[in-house]
Amino acid sequence: MTRRRILVTSALPYANGAIHLGHLVEYIQTDIWARFQKMAGHEVHYVCADDTHGTPIMLRAEAEGITPRQLIERVWHEHKRDFDGFHIAFDNYYSTDSPENRAFCEDIYARLKAAGLIAIRSVEQFYDPVKQMFLPDRYVRGECPKCCAKDQYGDACEVCGATYAPTELGNPYSVVSGARPERRASEHHFFRLSDARCEAFLRKFTQAESRLQPEAANKMKEWLGEPGEQRLADWDISRDPPYFGFAIPGTDGKKFFYVWLDAPVGYFGSFAEYAAKRKAAGAPLDEEAFLRPGHDTELVHFIGKDILYFHALFWPAMLEHAGYRTPSKIFAHGFLTVNGEKMSKSRGTFITAESYLRLGLNPEWLRYYYAAKLGPTMEDIDLNFDDFVAKVNSDLVGKYVNIASRAARFIAKTFGGELAYVGDTQPLVQDALECARLAAEAYEAREYGRVVREAMRVADRINEQFDRAQPWNLAKDASRRVPLQDACSRALFGFKLLSVLLAPALPRLTQRVARELFGLGRDFAWSDAGELPRRIGPYSHLITRLEAAQAGALIEANRESLQPAPPPSQQRHAEHQQHVAQGAAVSQDETISIDEFAKIDLRVARIADAQQVEGADKLVKLTLDIGTETRTVFAGIKSAYAPESLRGRYTVMVANLAPRKMRFGVSEGMVLAASGEGPGIFLIAPDAGAQPGMRVK
Ligand code: MSP
Ligand code: ZN
Repeated sequence: MTRRRILVTSALPYANGAIHLGHLVEYIQTDIWARFQKMAGHEVHYVCADDTHGTPIMLRAEAEGITPRQLIERVWHEHKRDFDGFHIAFDNYYSTDSPENRAFCEDIYARLKAAGLIAIRSVEQFYDPVKQMFLPDRYVRGECPKCCAKDQYGDACEVCGATYAPTELGNPYSVVSGARPERRASEHHFFRLSDARCEAFLRKFTQAESRLQPEAANKMKEWLGEPGEQRLADWDISRDPPYFGFAIPGTDGKKFFYVWLDAPVGYFGSFAEYAAKRKAAGAPLDEEAFLRPGHDTELVHFIGKDILYFHALFWPAMLEHAGYRTPSKIFAHGFLTVNGEKMSKSRGTFITAESYLRLGLNPEWLRYYYAAKLGPTMEDIDLNFDDFVAKVNSDLVGKYVNIASRAARFIAKTFGGELAYVGDTQPLVQDALECARLAAEAYEAREYGRVVREAMRVADRINEQFDRAQPWNLAKDASRRVPLQDACSRALFGFKLLSVLLAPALPRLTQRVARELFGLGRDFAWSDAGELPRRIGPYSHLITRLEAAQAGALIEANRESLQPAPPPSQQRHAEHQQHVAQGAAVSQDETISIDEFAKIDLRVARIADAQQVEGADKLVKLTLDIGTETRTVFAGIKSAYAPESLRGRYTVMVANLAPRKMRFGVSEGMVLAASGEGPGIFLIAPDAGAQPGMRVK
């Protein structure tokens, strides 16, 4: 066998959200593949990192009142904890916000520039005058220029499917501040993907035999068009400050690399950190051989189908023209649905990895289930709870583990752990080797479902043969020890074969099988499939059944529900509007019914105008647009907000509060704000996309 040298990656998860079961499709898929290759004896390095840069992370940190670095530091630990919990065995898990990554980005940029592949052009874009920043497409909303549907994203309409530039939207507003964005010009750096060299390279690259899945290669053909059509547009790789990322060299900190430039480079950044660690540990690896062209190493990317464009076009073209090696394989998978539907927070099917582990569900149940469902295509995969429970209980526990628990008991009790076979074992071994050969082919081709189906077929056969031998009857008759031992030994050999086949999917369980039951003193290698075991250690319980109620608990734990209402005992003043449940537990007699809560007519309001109030030291006069009408409200928020900073913002108002005559005029409702023991008043704002007049309930 020639020993392959493979650098394997999974996409880098964004550092502003929790790992969920959708993500895990990818990390489990990759982990199984990497583990299989290692078991087969190849040199494999599986690296990943958090994707830490960009506008959403910057804004998220700001909303939490921490710096982006504090945010990404915290999330790194959360992600690492979740991946460890699901036995994702990265050789290195790093961050894109690293010196290694910066150095690679700068080098790649300099080389592309030297090759004449960087252009600088002025671009007109939306700018948020309140927030003082350029707005990414997704942060501008407005009316679709084609069908006039309201509240559409800046790049595409979810109603009619049209795509357009954000500047084409009708009545645009900033999702960040609610303000009407202005058009402003700024210089941007582009990677010249439209250059003939890029197109020529990409045609060859994307149509090369088996580098991409057939569906992906077809997509590429579509994106590239016919030769001479020049469909590829230059790629905008710069962003203006404020931006959390790497400054582009030579721009005096005025331009930053767009996050999608530095993200894939992060694969190399993580690998470089890993190489340095290995060197320090006295086990160096040939870093250059993995990063430069002309070596017999492989670079294999696992990604979701949503990010194919970045990985199959921008990334390889960038690498090729900067003198780096290009990917050997790009494997895209489909999206996870739960019970046949898109994951949803309100339905509770947006299930976090953390909640799964916290509720005590076994991570290997999910690994097994995903393995059973995964194939080589970009088709979506469904986590169906009934099917999940059935597969775990009837296949994993009922068929596979059952073999060991039954056969090992006789061997321990009657034969002191010794195995012995009657007659020719050659056919048995041959069968096992053939089975392992087929499974290896299937793993290589990412047909894990086929491996699992084949393993269950073998498990059925082993169970049948064991039953046919009627060991419970043989055990009653001292003269039939030999056939009893033979039947149990054959069953345990079969169990060992199955354990090898399933080891990439069930690393923990099979590790115990290898070490405790078969006394190997190490984990399984692929070649163990054909080795007849001669004795076993004591059998101890391997895995429990999955109760349907546990699956149900997952949904409950992830359903996003309304926060408890503040106790009514809390004072509400028209001038102060402080609505905070201050940590005190709400006792039963203080609760209100949902009907009582529903009496409060809460509405999303756009602050159409905000004015100083002559002679009032706490009040600001607000004109609130609630869709069907406008209201005047005097709010006691002057200490925290300058009136001009409020204009265009969105908030929530109580629309059915009895009007109140005040010294300065009539207040027709109140706006909601939070405050605590310390200073500060914090106006409540709805999430992006909410429209004036929408009910809050
Ligand atoms: N940060 C980018 C990737 C940069 S790679 C240089 C990103 N991050 S992500 O957190 O949104 O997604 C990480 C991976 O998980 C992607 O490959 C994505 O396709 C995958 N998945 C995210 N949600 C998923 C499902 N619901 N189902 C299956 N895979 C999903 O994209
Ligand atoms: Zn539309």
